[in-house]
Amino acid sequence: MTTVKVVCHRHYEDENEWSCGNWLEYTLVIVLATILLLGSLGLTLFWVINYHGGFAWQEDPKKQFNLHPVLMVAGFITFSGFSILLYRICRCCRRIYVKLLHTIFHALAIPCVALGFLAVLDSHNLANPPIANFYSLHSWIGLVTMGLFAIQFVFGFFSFLILLCCEGATAGFRSAMVPIHASFGLTTFMLAIAACVTGLTEKVMFKLGEDYSHWKEEGIVVNVLGAILIAAGILVSFAVRSPTLKGDARLSVTERL
Ligand code: HEM
Repeated sequence: MTTVKVVCHRHYEDENEWSCGNWLEYTLVIVLATILLLGSLGLTLFWVINYHGGFAWQEDPKKQFNLHPVLMVAGFITFSGFSILLYRICRCCRRIYVKLLHTIFHALAIPCVALGFLAVLDSHNLANPPIANFYSLHSWIGLVTMGLFAIQFVFGFFSFLILLCCEGATAGFRSAMVPIHASFGLTTFMLAIAACVTGLTEKVMFKLGEDYSHWKEEGIVVNVLGAILIAAGILVSFAVRSPTLKGDARLSVTERL
């Protein structure tokens, strides 16, 4: 009796083929997210320069404060947003290059966040009379965001180093860590948006007071900035979670840290 052995070849190329609709979704999400991530930084700069007189360092603590929103938006929103989005933008690069770029973008956020934090601390401590520290909900959300970001970065960085020295032996551990790293990464990004929105509201209330309710131009600019930040948050989490944009397991770049 002869046995017939059926060999099944999977055609990965066919599985990876995208329909017109998939490409449309991909292009729309990536282009829109890019506009929002860059637009939020542009509008923050416009707001601070146009309505708050630009920047200074310790010689003028009031203007030194202005570095805080700009650097926090640059680090936590623009750089971190692109760092997350990279996993969806780069569909054909090797996984290791995407991870390297992901690390570089997050590393670029570190000096922004450190200087942004220093700027707000100085603007409180060097003011005459000094302003109390960490009294507001905004500052608490901000501290949690910075703490989570630091934990995520250290953890991700060491996993990446482990990957470079012993890839095979650590594959199981790294794939078990992916869902945790991805969930906390997205949580940190959303918390950063919450910090920005509360910070913006606080600042505009400090400056405009009662006038905020009178549809002042600056109030509208700040509201639009907040709406852009929220839209960026929705779009980036959609890009990360959408099954279409995630692609198949072979192309997915997030199955191992
Ligand atoms: C993810 C982004 C942000 C983080 C992590 C963050 C973090 C912080 C922290 C920790 C403080 C407390 C400093 C102290 O008490 O000495 C603070 C203060 C402040 N931040 Fe932010 N911030 C962020 C974005 C923003 C933005 C976009 C604005 C908009 C203007 C802003 C406005 C303020 C204001 C007005 C204060 C002083 C009053 C207060 O302590 O609540 N922040 N921020």
